[in-house]
Amino acid sequence: MKRCLVVTGGGDCPGLNAVIRAIVKRAAQEKNWEIVGSIEAFNGVLKEPTEVVILDEERVSGIHYQGGTIIQTTNKGGPFAWPVKNKDGSWSAVDRSDEMLRKLQYMGIEAVINIGGDGSQRISQKLSEKGCNIIGVPKTIDNDLTATDSTFGFQTAVQIATEAVDKLVTTAASHNRVLILEVMGRYAGWIALNAAVAGGAEICLLPEFPYDINKVLEHVNKRFERDRGFVNIVIAEGARAIGKDYSTLSQQEIGYENRMLGGVANLLMNELKEAGCEHSIRTTVLGHLQRGGVPTAYDRVLATQFGVKAFEMVIKQEYGRMVSYRHPEITSVSLEEALQKPNLVEPDTALMKTAKGIGIHFGN
Ligand code: F6P
Repeated sequence: MKRCLVVTGGGDCPGLNAVIRAIVKRAAQEKNWEIVGSIEAFNGVLKEPTEVVILDEERVSGIHYQGGTIIQTTNKGGPFAWPVKNKDGSWSAVDRSDEMLRKLQYMGIEAVINIGGDGSQRISQKLSEKGCNIIGVPKTIDNDLTATDSTFGFQTAVQIATEAVDKLVTTAASHNRVLILEVMGRYAGWIALNAAVAGGAEICLLPEFPYDINKVLEHVNKRFERDRGFVNIVIAEGARAIGKDYSTLSQQEIGYENRMLGGVANLLMNELKEAGCEHSIRTTVLGHLQRGGVPTAYDRVLATQFGVKAFEMVIKQEYGRMVSYRHPEITSVSLEEALQKPNLVEPDTALMKTAKGIGIHFGN
């Protein structure tokens, strides 16, 4: 029996379970493969005692529409930066990758499928360079990877963000208010842009185009020209005013490497007031609601396609590569190519043209 380890790393994302199920179902057709899941990304392998589970057809039955991941995930630690407490109480990051690869060998793991975003695929690449038979499956609600036309989870996040705009529009109109919705996406504005277009927001502020607060205020005031009015603003968590830094939250989680973005909706409210806005303003932070719950049909389908492709790449020993969707094909790219540059909104992005075409203001 050959063994393939499946890992989900980084932030969770609707569709992860559909990928796991597809891998297990495809592997079951081969008869000579066993699928093993590592609990909490690679931490399950690194921990003593090891935390891994056998994933068979019974275990994955019916999980395709469940959010989250049945094998859990983490965006802390990992084989190259395992947090260790020093005697003085401080923490250091230790490279345990060689030890982990020996452990995988001992466990009889022939191949690894690592389902994760850019941080996880960087780990895939480093493990691949060390000789690990690894395949990456892209995952992110942020849609910030250039190596694939889209990632599962993104459509679900956009749907949830759009439903939030829909709800905020009615209350904004009833109260003649400025309502600001903060959505996720890290340094990419895809969720905000799509939700603004789908939900009919008047202003959309993206990380890619720092805003001029006076221009934002000017547009807000225009909407109130006839005494009454309302404005819905969708702001990406990574948006910022010209010349200002990102809005971040303080965090003390050991081994957490990313800057924790957040708070930009309240910041914008204060900036508008300081700039002279006299209208009533309220803020909503959508947060992790965008990552939870049932994946859309589109995301389930894409996730299932990615899972089947990943296992077929294991069979063909196409290691050191990441699954990718290039319409209409499910294909693959080298891990190196996969990580080259992030997928960001550009001024000439087709959807930007559409958004401008219907009068959405970008604060610049
Ligand atoms: O990358 C996915 C994402 O949800 C980002 O949009 C967001 O900035 C980040 O993860 C939040 O991470 P955490 O769950 O660690 O707070």
